[in-house]
This record gives sequence, C-alpha cells and structure tokens, in this order.
Amino acid sequence: MAARLETEVLDSAPRKEAGPEGLAPAIELIGVSKRYDSVVALTSIDLKFERGKTSVLIGPSGCGKSTLLRLINGLIQPTTGKVLFEGQALTPTNLLQLRRRMGYVIQEGGLFPHLTARDNVLLLARHLRRPEEEMRARLAELCGLTRLPETALARFPVELSGGQRQRVSLIRALMLQPEVLLLDEPLAALDPMVRATLQTELKAIFQQLHQSVIMVTHELSEAAFLADQIVLLRQGRVVQAGAFGDLRDHPAEGFVSEFINAQRRMILQ
Ligand SMILES: Nc1ncnc2c1ncn2[C@@H]1O[C@H](COP(=O)(O)OP(=O)(O)OP(=O)(O)O)[C@@H](O)[C@H]1O
Ligand SMILES: [Mg+2]
Repeated sequence: MAARLETEVLDSAPRKEAGPEGLAPAIELIGVSKRYDSVVALTSIDLKFERGKTSVLIGPSGCGKSTLLRLINGLIQPTTGKVLFEGQALTPTNLLQLRRRMGYVIQEGGLFPHLTARDNVLLLARHLRRPEEEMRARLAELCGLTRLPETALARFPVELSGGQRQRVSLIRALMLQPEVLLLDEPLAALDPMVRATLQTELKAIFQQLHQSVIMVTHELSEAAFLADQIVLLRQGRVVQAGAFGDLRDHPAEGFVSEFINAQRRMILQ
C-alpha cells in the first residue's frame, strides 16, 4: 500500500476530464495515431478505458493491438494525439513515474531466463528499494491469488510449465499494485484446459483487486468471458467498442459480424 501512496502523493496533479462519477478514466486516448516510417500502425484512435473494468483488444494479426498497449505504457510515443493516465497526459517528464503505476506483461511474457522466478518478480521492487518484508508479504499474497506454489519461485523460467510462467509474469506485473494492468495475449500458447482454468482465475483476480485491465487476445470467447468492453480493431482503426452483446446484436459494420462468425466457425469445426 505504501508504494501506491507514495506515487499518489508524488503525482498529485489535478485530475482533468472527470467522468460521470467524478473520476477520469484509467486511460484515455485522444486522436492517437502511430506511424512507423511507411507503416501506419494506428489511425485516429479515441478510446476510454474505465477504472475497475476489463477491456479487451481484439482483431486480426497486425491490426495494432500491441502497438496500442505500448503507446499506453509510454514505450513508444504517438505520432499524433495524446494518451492520458487518470486524466493526466503522458509526457517525457512524468513518463517513468506513471509507467510504474502500470503493470505490463508483454506478448511473450518477458521473463528473464537467467533469473529465478523470485528474482524476476522482485527485480523492479528491489531496484526501487521497496521494503523487503513488505514485498515478501505481497509475493506470498499474489502466489495465493494466482495459485502458484511458492516452491516454484526458486526455479528458472525454463523449469516451469507454460501456465506457471504466465502466473509468474502476472505476479511480476501486479507486484507494485499497479492502477492499470496491461496484458498482451497472456494466455496464448497454453493448452485449452489450462487456458480455461486461467481465464476463470484471471476474472476472479481482476474482480477481487477491482483492477483496471486492458488485455489483448485473439480469442473472441475469451474476450466475451472477460471483458466489460471489447475493442475490435482492424488495420489500425477501431471498428467498434462495446459490450460483446452490442457487437453481436448491433454490429457497426459488416466486418464485426464477419469477425464474430469466423470465430464461431472455428469453434464448430
Ligand atoms: N517497430 C516497428 N517498426 C515498424 N513497423 C512496426 C513496428 N512495430 C509494429 N509494426 C507494424 O505495425 C503494425 C501493427 O503491429 P502490432 O504489433 O501492433 O500488431 P498486433 O495487432 O499486435 O499483431 P499480432 O496479433 O500479430 O500480435 C504491423 O503492421 C506491424 O508490422
Ligand atoms: Mg501483438
């Protein structure tokens, strides 16, 4: 808790653009586009990610999902537009500080192979000189929450199962009690049974922590199960954002129904 209090005090800039409950969204993108030389990765993105809700980014490979997470995390800067964290625009001066309030699991998990699970998880906390005792307690709590046996912490990533590695990546992202959790395909490459179990567990964890989550997946059923808001992207644009029922019953354009039907066909095959 001390970690969050410290950053809140340091970061007590006025909250702008308040929503209906008087709080700015966890994350907001206004007129964001991103271009890499000749490649236009994202165009004219206006999105709000509300606090305590789970939003899922979905869409064909290359449509810009990972780019969107990297922009939110400030790893890359938008070509135009701005990204707001709780109403505060990300700038070069506040970037590092705001980034520490976001937990991020990159597409491949991103664990360091030469460090044990415990050292991976504690890396940033140690760098920031967080109290050892507090972090030990937090780690025990997160092992319980994610059902990772504490004995697994002594192992290197290669000595863990795929599901255990995902749990370790998640624990690492949650260590410093982030306000926003960014997950890039956290359950990819898992066998279907493990994946289903982890989906159920993730949902419970998000609810228990009242976590604001932005997650990428390729699987519509996973999105429908986890998301309060689904954001369907295509070729760098938002095709539709809303609850799964909205996309199913009121598709904004033909592509929405095509996308839903394509996934349905895959399930029936
Ligand atoms: N560093 C980069 N330099 C040039 N082009 C890039 C770079 N990163 C991403 N792109 C391009 O931007 C587009 C969006 O990429 P992005 O990784 O965001 O897609 P994605 O939706 O996450 O795809 P996937 O589902 O395959 O992970 C792609 O055309 C990609 O080739
Ligand atoms: Mg990606």
